Amino acid sequence: MKLQLTVNGSATEASVEPRTHLADVLRDRLDLTGTHLGCEHGVCGACTLLLDGAPARSCITFAVACDGAAVTTIEGLDEDEIAAELRTAFAREHALQCGYCTPGMIMSARDLVLRLDHSDEQAIRVGLSGNLCRCTGYVGIVRAVRAVIEARRQRGIAAVVGAGRTTLGPVGSQPSAHATATSSAPPTMAKIEADRGVAISTLDIADAVPAKSFDASFTVNAAPAQVFALFGNVETLAACFPGATITAMPAPDHIEGEIRVAIGPLSAVFRGSARIDRNAADLSGRLIGTGRDQRSRTSTSGQISWCMLPIDEGRATRVALAIGYSLSGPLAQIARDGLVRDLASRITTTFAQNCDRHLNGTAGPAETPEPQRLNALALLLDVARNRLTGLARRMRGP
Ligand code: FES
Ligand code: FES
Repeated sequence: MKLQLTVNGSATEASVEPRTHLADVLRDRLDLTGTHLGCEHGVCGACTLLLDGAPARSCITFAVACDGAAVTTIEGLDEDEIAAELRTAFAREHALQCGYCTPGMIMSARDLVLRLDHSDEQAIRVGLSGNLCRCTGYVGIVRAVRAVIEARRQRGIAAVVGAGRTTLGPVGSQPSAHATATSSAPPTMAKIEADRGVAISTLDIADAVPAKSFDASFTVNAAPAQVFALFGNVETLAACFPGATITAMPAPDHIEGEIRVAIGPLSAVFRGSARIDRNAADLSGRLIGTGRDQRSRTSTSGQISWCMLPIDEGRATRVALAIGYSLSGPLAQIARDGLVRDLASRITTTFAQNCDRHLNGTAGPAETPEPQRLNALALLLDVARNRLTGLARRMRGP
């Protein structure tokens, strides 16, 4: 695969195997051997470099994932002010012996010098805990980093919050500038079909057994047949779903789209596709889909089954939902069961309100619905408020 990088300020192109890691490209193709390889398992930190300005382990970063990125190796820090101060301090404090760990150590130390307000020993030790040194015993290294931080703060040079990073998540997990530029336009259905060499309608999204499942329900003021019809209109269905956007011409039984979620500064866009099955005989249906957030490399698959139950002598409908999902990747680590249920319950409430608006004409007949952004932070705060209220109630007793 063709790869474009800016390495130490110079534009570079390389042709690499998908399996090649960044350190090998730098060392073997570009002769930048200052990036050392120790464990090649992401443990020792010897291979640490800066990827778009943030420290990253180049032994476990696929080069192709860095397409369009700016890479800074130890060679690129020759003129860097902080690195120069660190080199002097390392030499003065005997912070190296064999020097094998030193390039990676300088990279991580530079990040700490940028970020830390004070020369707090514990914070420095924690910050350097991903860089192993088998020679020095760390005392000199910590002393050197403390000295540089102290000297800079005394000279009135303030810490940079987050070292200037604007994105969260593992470094290298962000879409590259190159990839972002080329993927901004949503693909058309024809393009997707051409790319895949198969008609969308024949794509098979396999059934899967979800890892987690739960039930939910909501009520709308419309007859079951009307609600079932709304569920049959893919565009309206997407418009009612908070944060959902269709990215390609939908078919009655197939939808390509994305769902945006924002949790504070962390945002995720799950792009994917879903198959929709409907059974008009019993007013039931099922949506089975898969999606992936490129930025956090989190994948999800899931299914939502529904059936329409008449209430209030058929003037209203209770929509019973069975929701199942599987989540894998970094975001799965924060998506606790209870949290997902609570979030789903909030989403369901908003979805129900939107359905009601559409069914009762208050959304406006010719309205083109804006894709709604799901503000999960507000939802999370709501969840936290509810949980605290429940806790207080339990503590007060019956
Ligand atoms: S060589 Fe990359 S972490 Fe050890
Ligand atoms: S100086 Fe030898 S491994 Fe750190």
